[in-house]
Amino acid sequence: GDSDRINIAIDGPAGAGKSTVARLVAGQLGYVYIDTGAMYRAVTYSAQRLAIAANEQEQLGKLMKDIRIRLEPGESGQSVFVDDEEVTDKIRSLDVTRQVSHFAASGIVREVLGRMQRELAERKGVVMDGRDIGSHVLPNAELKIFLTASVRERASRRHRELSGVDVVPLEQLEAEIAERDRLDASREIAPLIQASDAIELDSSGMTIDEVVATIVRLSRTKLAEA
Ligand code: DC
Repeated sequence: GDSDRINIAIDGPAGAGKSTVARLVAGQLGYVYIDTGAMYRAVTYSAQRLAIAANEQEQLGKLMKDIRIRLEPGESGQSVFVDDEEVTDKIRSLDVTRQVSHFAASGIVREVLGRMQRELAERKGVVMDGRDIGSHVLPNAELKIFLTASVRERASRRHRELSGVDVVPLEQLEAEIAERDRLDASREIAPLIQASDAIELDSSGMTIDEVVATIVRLSRTKLAEA
């Protein structure tokens, strides 16, 4: 039945640790993890390949009409496919990261991805991370978490991830994160806002395991209520 599983929405700004936390929570509960940011990135990657700009609504509409995005759970996270091409690593490029906010502001992109996301959650038992999941995509999710961390904390996490790969100064990362927050929070359609019934969790100074344990505990409480 449906009552033995719930849907969990995890929203929050870039770099708060949502995807790591959501993946681990899903693993502990035996749920399906869905990274909606990866879906926006996959669209951005495809548009870039076809030389479609974020403001070309008609072209974007055509792209969204037949794009097929597939998320496959794997050992170290999730593999992403667009029309059978594996794009797991390609969607993490700087090019995509710098452009994705603009594509995520497009009405047609949000409408089509939102519909796909609702379908994926229909049978319950999903942990979905994004920006507008609790506020817009799954307003009836049984558990909504708004995961935050200070800009400084998020920039230093990213800095640690990148060190050895790219040398990007911490100050630049802070500026980029703040700018992405601003774009995500100020766009007209489905901006990043905390749903009124979401539980805010500030992960600054918490370990990943502590954050995961907190969310798993909350979900068990919700399950007992369901
Ligand atoms: O979480 P991320 O960095 O992979 O997200 C990529 C972009 O997609 C980011 O600019 C926010 C946007 N996004 C969104 O608008 N709505 C979602 N549900 C998920 C991501």
